[in-house]
Amino acid sequence: MDDFVIPLYPEAGEKRPLPNLYLDHNIRQEKQPFVYANFVVSLDGRIAIPHPSGQGLTVPKAIVNERDWRLFQELAAQADLIISSGRYLRDWADGRAQEILQTDDPRFADLRRWREEQDLKPQPDIAIISGSLDFPIPDVLTSNGRHAIIFTSANPDPKRVAEIEAQAGQVFIVGEEAVDGQQMVHKMGELGYQTVYSAAGPRILHMLLTGGVLDRLYLTHASRILGGSPFASVVEGGVLGTAVNFQLHSLTFDPAGLDGLGQLFLAYNRV
Ligand SMILES: NC(=O)c1ccc[n+]([C@@H]2O[C@H](COP(=O)([O-])OP(=O)(O)OC[C@H]3O[C@@H](n4cnc5c(N)ncnc54)[C@H](OP(=O)(O)O)[C@@H]3O)[C@@H](O)[C@H]2O)c1
Repeated sequence: MDDFVIPLYPEAGEKRPLPNLYLDHNIRQEKQPFVYANFVVSLDGRIAIPHPSGQGLTVPKAIVNERDWRLFQELAAQADLIISSGRYLRDWADGRAQEILQTDDPRFADLRRWREEQDLKPQPDIAIISGSLDFPIPDVLTSNGRHAIIFTSANPDPKRVAEIEAQAGQVFIVGEEAVDGQQMVHKMGELGYQTVYSAAGPRILHMLLTGGVLDRLYLTHASRILGGSPFASVVEGGVLGTAVNFQLHSLTFDPAGLDGLGQLFLAYNRV
């Protein structure tokens, strides 16, 4: 498999290796705190389709691919906090989810070394966002020196909060009816987190957008159309009061992606 990609914007340039494409974005040099999210999406805008079991949605197999996963890992490696959700922990318990940053995978040994060189722990800490607080807590959540913090909305069940705090990490109330993106990122900053990667889904992206706290959106456009419904797109929730503007930060063509079909790697900065 050819291991090169072709930069198209901001400078159309010579082909370059895929590895380090996103490490070279130097996200830790951006203003702080810096919040970024990432999705792989089909040409018809689908990020998730029904799980074969009939229960819930899952990332479509037809667009998942190793080259996108490599870049996902490069984004995760640069974070000191990764945003995930109650849904992720429920999927984990069902054996349907995997570790987000795969520091133990030999394919990503260079990213583990990179974190060491930056004086970062092997694993970023993890922020779990949940209104229900209804999720199992796997031991792995707090292994490898990782801390977990939990964000929820007003009036949580105190017994459940005590259970979670005993097993996982501190619970913060940031919002009334639902978790509020602005309050949450403010709290993350107070706790010392600088570089925050959302590996979560479309409702969390909606919350980050309404809170005005998303700085950059990474999209991999896989050249396949999937069709069907129900499905999830990049953002799910009410119409945004004001459209959120983005400006293209970079565009790269990956001719070898999806077994030679090709895909586009895009990054947008929120204006
Ligand atoms: N293609 C891709 O790149 C990509 C990326 C990410 C996800 N996905 C897929 O997209 C699908 C949906 O993802 P998802 O369910 O993780 O994402 P989600 O819709 O963003 O939210 C998941 C959970 O987060 C909590 N949550 C979200 N917003 C909240 C708020 N404002 N306040 C309180 N809690 C909030 C809820 O947890 P509680 O229910 O515990 O309250 C909710 O169930 C999944 O199939 C996933 O695999 C695809």
